[in-house]
Amino acid sequence: MSLELIEEIPALRLRIGGWRQGGERIALVPTMGNLHEGHLALVREARRLADRTVASIFVNPLQFGPKEDFGAYPRTLERDRELLEAKHTDLLFAPPVAAVYPHGQEAQTRVEVPGLSDILCGASRPGHFVGVATVVCKLFNMVQPDLAVFGEKDFQQLLVIRRMVEDLCLPVEVRGLATVREPDGLAMSSRNGYLTPEERTRAPALFRTLSRAGDRLRTGLPPREVETEAEEALMGDGFRPDYFRVCRASDLQPAGSTDRDLVVLAAAYLGKARLIDNLSV
Ligand code: PAJ
Repeated sequence: MSLELIEEIPALRLRIGGWRQGGERIALVPTMGNLHEGHLALVREARRLADRTVASIFVNPLQFGPKEDFGAYPRTLERDRELLEAKHTDLLFAPPVAAVYPHGQEAQTRVEVPGLSDILCGASRPGHFVGVATVVCKLFNMVQPDLAVFGEKDFQQLLVIRRMVEDLCLPVEVRGLATVREPDGLAMSSRNGYLTPEERTRAPALFRTLSRAGDRLRTGLPPREVETEAEEALMGDGFRPDYFRVCRASDLQPAGSTDRDLVVLAAAYLGKARLIDNLSV
């Protein structure tokens, strides 16, 4: 079975409509391409849970700030296609920007998840989660999947999407999958390619710092002290921390001393690359 590439919405609807009429369960894995083992783990999970797996590749201009890396973001469609074919994906949807935003980005109707979108990554990247929620909502409407699989690597994004699905009553089951890491602990990411070889050797310190913060919390150190210690450690390792925060896993509000279900989230620059990672505690 070979992988079909579709670039336009009417052709997508036609193909998926046929599957749905046949009673098949459809899973969507939205990505921006430059696929790695983290993305492929989502595809494997989708295949396990559904009859048909659709992957999308769309570098979404709406979720990049004006000074961010939209232009530089790695686009490797041919290689991605081979990887998806090897994983027995049924369909690759890779629309051009004009198919997704036919009236232009400015005129696009938007989806905003208040609160969750303005903190952490949303505070440093204004408009980012509006761009994410809008494109994911559109992809859900284009593909109309029964379920969609996302990575916990982007923990805040996963919460934004879950809330959007709940608030807009979208009939899509959202599954989260654990972060896939390199052997040295670094979370796999398309942006790791921005690291120089020397930065790459230092990059695993981000996950090590998260793990140490997890240990500290378990010994009862107050969250604010854990955050300060971790930011200092990251600076010592040559990172420029954006944030390092101990939060409640349910709503990403700052963790109090009695909260139990915690997630530690970090974003930090290493050279040109902005790396994010998180750890549930
Ligand atoms: P992208 O960064 O390509 O990631 C696509 C999916 O892969 C997301 O659900 C992300 O959480 C997951 N992912 C990335 N690295 C991972 C890793 N190391 N382990 C497990 N999962 C990982 O996230 C986006 O694209 C976009 O914002 C998108 C949702 C496609 C909307 O444009």
